[in-house]
Amino acid sequence: MDQKQEAIEKLKKYHQEHIINILEMLEEQKQKKLIEQVLTIDFEQIEKLYEDTKKGINVEVSELKPIKSINPDKLSQEQKKAYEQKGEEIIKKNAFAVVTMSGGQGTRLGYNGPKGTFKINVKPQPKYLFEIIVDTLKRANEKYQVMIPWYIMTSEENNDEIIHFMEEHNYFAYPKEQVKFFTQGELPLITPEGKLLVDEEDKIRVASNGNGSIFESMKQKGILEDMREKKIEWVYIGSIDNVLLKMVDVLLIGIAIDEGSQIATRSIFKNNPRERIGSLCSQNGKIKVIEYSELPEEMIEATDEEGELLYGESHVMCNLFHIDALEKISTKQLPYHSAFKKYSYKDENGKVIVPEEPNAYKFEYFIFDSFEYFNQISILRGKREEDFAPVKNKEGVDSPETAAKLYNDFWFGKEE
Ligand code: UTP
Repeated sequence: MDQKQEAIEKLKKYHQEHIINILEMLEEQKQKKLIEQVLTIDFEQIEKLYEDTKKGINVEVSELKPIKSINPDKLSQEQKKAYEQKGEEIIKKNAFAVVTMSGGQGTRLGYNGPKGTFKINVKPQPKYLFEIIVDTLKRANEKYQVMIPWYIMTSEENNDEIIHFMEEHNYFAYPKEQVKFFTQGELPLITPEGKLLVDEEDKIRVASNGNGSIFESMKQKGILEDMREKKIEWVYIGSIDNVLLKMVDVLLIGIAIDEGSQIATRSIFKNNPRERIGSLCSQNGKIKVIEYSELPEEMIEATDEEGELLYGESHVMCNLFHIDALEKISTKQLPYHSAFKKYSYKDENGKVIVPEEPNAYKFEYFIFDSFEYFNQISILRGKREEDFAPVKNKEGVDSPETAAKLYNDFWFGKEE
């Protein structure tokens, strides 16, 4: 059987006949590409993911408990110094690396390009999000007299654009040999009827499969091996879109070492019970993150005797992993989460349809699902005005405007 026939059989078997119709309309080169793509898709997995979408969200909340975090304001100066010293030792012996996750689609921002190439209006002059990350790395290199290896996770969709952008800007004067790119995984989207979509380029529409894909991607793309060769012990994994992210967090490293944890996270406390960030909780002795939409009503407003929210401590992608932890997680199968979103597609007559309402499920791994494989995780409470200025939405909360204000207030002082 030739490849075309094989692809057709596969599409028939999994009830994707509409793709066959489109395939038959294509010229030879495009047909070949689509056939190749069909042959690489794991349709068994797609079927299973589709079945799971019908089950709905089922978060087991009965065993949820609040977690304990370290509040740096409650540490003595000596304690803090001792932790920081431990962290500094790691940096100074070149056993530390940073990974920036930039494989997301940034749909809420609505910017036509990878988020890192978005320019934000900060003082003294506007900067790209990638540039702000480089500033942070350079400051640490200068302070500790080291050269921190920097890894950037991209997606198949934005990889070329990101590399081109970094080349064009000469890596914002970061030593190019210290920077490595690697791509994350992707998965087809599925409609509520279980059908795949065809995109404007006549390929099956796929999307990156979530930031939790970082673990298997680091393994598969040789990044863990590269880190081992460089004798890296601790790896900070952060997002591209927090303009106050302090990746070289010596206090966090020191605490992780002191507590004997292989993972540490800097949290942010909710500024109101309904803030749309995931709560750090404990379940059967393990740390779990419950999305804001999944937290049961009675837990949202629950407070302790001092009136502080019991589930206010939140996960904001400021994570530190020991290399052994990354190695361990990379062998695990994290669960997929689905989100119902809007995606354009070509219909059977080849006409491009831009839906007004969500029309397909996207499947994602979440980085925090990895926490469940560990008995202990160190949690350090960060400060919003020092650590958290996300660029998520086009306008309003967590927008370029609010992030730039937080950045400017932090670096140049609050304007009255
Ligand atoms: P978000 O989950 O906020 O996604 O990503 P996003 O793509 O930036 O924005 P929306 O939800 O589409 O509006 C948090 C971090 O995880 C990365 C993002 O690039 C960002 O740094 N991420 C997300 C990935 O690297 N890959 C993914 O598949 C998803």
